[in-house]
Amino acid sequence: MSIISEYKKKTKKSAKLFTQSSKLHVNGVSHNIRFYEPYPFVVKKSAGKNLTDVDDNKYTDFWMGHWSLILGHGPKNVKDSLKKQIEKSWMYGTVNEQTIKLSEIISKAVPVAEKIRYVTSGTEATMYAVRLARSVTGRKIIAKIDGGWHGYTSDLLKSVNWPFSESESSGIVNEEKIISIPYNDLEESLKILKKISKDLAGVIIEPVLGGGGCIPATKEYLKGIQEFTQKNESLFILDEIVTGFRFRFGCLYPTMKLDPDIVTLGKIVGGGMAIGVMCGKKEIMQFADTTGKKKSERSYVGGGTFSANPASMVTGHSTLSELKSNNAIYSKLNNLGDLARKNLRKVFGENVVITGKGSLFMTHFVQNGITEITNSTHVAKCDSSMLQKYHFKMIAHDGIFFLPGKLGAISYAHSKEDIKKMVKASENFLNSN
Ligand SMILES: Cc1ncc(COP(=O)(O)O)c(C=O)c1O
Repeated sequence: MSIISEYKKKTKKSAKLFTQSSKLHVNGVSHNIRFYEPYPFVVKKSAGKNLTDVDDNKYTDFWMGHWSLILGHGPKNVKDSLKKQIEKSWMYGTVNEQTIKLSEIISKAVPVAEKIRYVTSGTEATMYAVRLARSVTGRKIIAKIDGGWHGYTSDLLKSVNWPFSESESSGIVNEEKIISIPYNDLEESLKILKKISKDLAGVIIEPVLGGGGCIPATKEYLKGIQEFTQKNESLFILDEIVTGFRFRFGCLYPTMKLDPDIVTLGKIVGGGMAIGVMCGKKEIMQFADTTGKKKSERSYVGGGTFSANPASMVTGHSTLSELKSNNAIYSKLNNLGDLARKNLRKVFGENVVITGKGSLFMTHFVQNGITEITNSTHVAKCDSSMLQKYHFKMIAHDGIFFLPGKLGAISYAHSKEDIKKMVKASENFLNSN
């Protein structure tokens, strides 16, 4: 039986529901990347490391809610905190103590978070970061990375997918105000930045490219870009929406002795509920202060009906509390990530490059003479259809879920056995090809 037939046979209810979903939603989905051929399975429930679909198939999940669920699906302490909050209600639309509690824990763990603003998505957080950088500097251009992903904000919807020179979408204006630099290539990046230095408001970078291929930036690269922005009086913005609290309790940037002006957070800090965070140095965040400032002086950031809603604040707080109180979590996660990378390399040999850091990892089927992956151009030259096939086979045949084509994230709910099962499935895939 073909792998597609195998999938269709076990996901009949999903097929029916997805047909209905397609009548109601564009492409049947509400986030573009959630669609894959022939149709995505429809989830009924999740717990720990598992997703269960409407046909009662169980999948060991390596997508983990867009990499947000570091403790797994529905961990007890987070669930309990949410239940308690729900008893008191879940939407106030006013100042609340739950927000203060979350901010206390974030500001201690993230030194640059002298002032914080909450939103309900990473997209909004990076949108505000861009506006703030432009307000603070009085300049217009923002530099981003080829392959950098900061959400769907129009301001940063450029040079995301190969070929980076093509517009990502119709309907975007002022694209010339976003320029793009090559990841991990300091010399070339500085050349580009120097040309637009006079109007450069800021540079936004992920310290590990997430959507762009799970690729860590080198310390030298980030330091070099930071040095340039400081000399040029532009802002250095680190997007730690994926990396914040992923590898250690706090952000990645202090481990490289970096000093960003603004940091954006999301995903993990919401504990599985909607969140985005923009935080930064006091003197910069002060531009968002609306009290007593003229319109022309302020940066108008800070809205959102659901911003700092108590439900997201308590799930974020209980997640970070657990991460803080249990030292074993990060060592377990990082060790499992090492185990996955080591064994996948052993299985696939020269056919692949495995990238990643800590509990994030990604398999790239190399071709076209690519032997290392240090930027998204390298990723674009790899065999993406093989990656889709590999991930799909694991969904259809092995009860393992990676969102096809995306990096894998390990949670505290995973075990060595789960990694071994995934490695075994990878070996079977290789042997069947
Ligand atoms: C680095 C990075 N920034 C921003 C975003 C956007 O966050 P959201 O999907 O919550 O809008 C993402 C989402 O994956 C991301 O990976």
